[in-house]
Amino acid sequence: MAEIALLKDRRIILAVCGSIAVYKAVDLASKLTQAGAQVDVIMTEAAQRFVHPLTFQAVSGRPVYSDMWRAEIGGGLPSHIAHIGLAEGADLLMVAPATANTLAKLAHGFADDLLSVTVLAAGCPLLVAPAMDGGMIEHRAVQDNLDMLRQRGAHLIEPETGRLASGLTGGGRLPETPTLIGHIRRILGLGGELSGHKLVVTAGGTREALDPVRYLSNRSTGKQGFAIAQAAIDAGADVVLISSAEVLPPLVGATLVDVDSAQSMLEAVLAQVADASALIMAAAVADYRPRSVSQQKIKKADEWLNLPLERNPDILMAVKAQREKTGYPKIVVGFAAESENLLENASGKLQAKRLDLLVANDISASDAGFAVDTNRVVVLDMDGGMHTIDLTSKAAIGDTIIKRVGGLLA
Ligand code: C5P
Repeated sequence: MAEIALLKDRRIILAVCGSIAVYKAVDLASKLTQAGAQVDVIMTEAAQRFVHPLTFQAVSGRPVYSDMWRAEIGGGLPSHIAHIGLAEGADLLMVAPATANTLAKLAHGFADDLLSVTVLAAGCPLLVAPAMDGGMIEHRAVQDNLDMLRQRGAHLIEPETGRLASGLTGGGRLPETPTLIGHIRRILGLGGELSGHKLVVTAGGTREALDPVRYLSNRSTGKQGFAIAQAAIDAGADVVLISSAEVLPPLVGATLVDVDSAQSMLEAVLAQVADASALIMAAAVADYRPRSVSQQKIKKADEWLNLPLERNPDILMAVKAQREKTGYPKIVVGFAAESENLLENASGKLQAKRLDLLVANDISASDAGFAVDTNRVVVLDMDGGMHTIDLTSKAAIGDTIIKRVGGLLA
């Protein structure tokens, strides 16, 4: 797990209750620590029957807290009183898994163990991920407690439906680590540099149908677009992700609009940018599409098959026309994937499409561009500025692009 800029040195209290799902919380504590967060784990007594505190201590590299009555607490916390020391200066308190018993305590303000007193003492956002078996989550008592917490401003993570530890199928599963981290990022991002701004990001290679089973596409996977959308969520933006990417997991905190062809992407983009602060056009849009789509599967016949292609609309040109009329989106960022004459071609596009920024990508290298997790780009701006970002993760490039967009909007 790579470092996540938003999580670096943030103090997260992970409070775990007695549910079999506590094994997933071990992975969460480990991944958060690897991402750069300082994770302090509180365990209820029941949680310790499922997993030994030593396990959490080993993955977080920090003391684990469970006893309300112990005087010395260690870990360099701001106070020697355990629940005060834990709560003070924490950025987030997450209860995962949250059992029906702990939910009831939190809803009613009980304070009879370290977890419940710390929740009362903490002024930071509270994120609660319930997990329980056998339909308990549907019980009116549990739902009422969840409502009460929600009304009081707690953030809740919807449990997933699937196989439960009992062998039953139903709602109540704790989501997997990437989803949990997605929720943490969304909440830590609230109030960030881009809060109040709607950002539209496109991702993936478009698919241009030939017949009912075939299409023309390209090698774009959508990874860079998704990384930009995640960076925008981290900065507190309202993110709409218009994507033709097929295999990437959904991003927590983004509104996903699924598209396939350039035409469908064009329609979605023009509708979404009408009230957007910025458009970041990271998608690899096909320049051509088959002139006609065969209603039946094209049969194998002659040695040669002629496939007439026609030009697709240029989405950024259409955005340019709309922006000239309405002023929206305020900022437009384009991409240029080039296999030769990178800078000349890129600055030509910046001018022709009237972009605020253009991210130029040399796709001739194997460690940058399509499909891989790393990239190497040059960011050009309207004033002739050129900023080279050497080989780094697509996540880091996403953070840099979002910072530049934030600067332009400020
Ligand atoms: O001209 P070129 O296709 O190389 O420009 C790349 C930029 O234009 C990218 O930001 C891409 O998303 C966008 N594009 C577009 N509509 C097209 C083709 C590309 O908006 N039909």
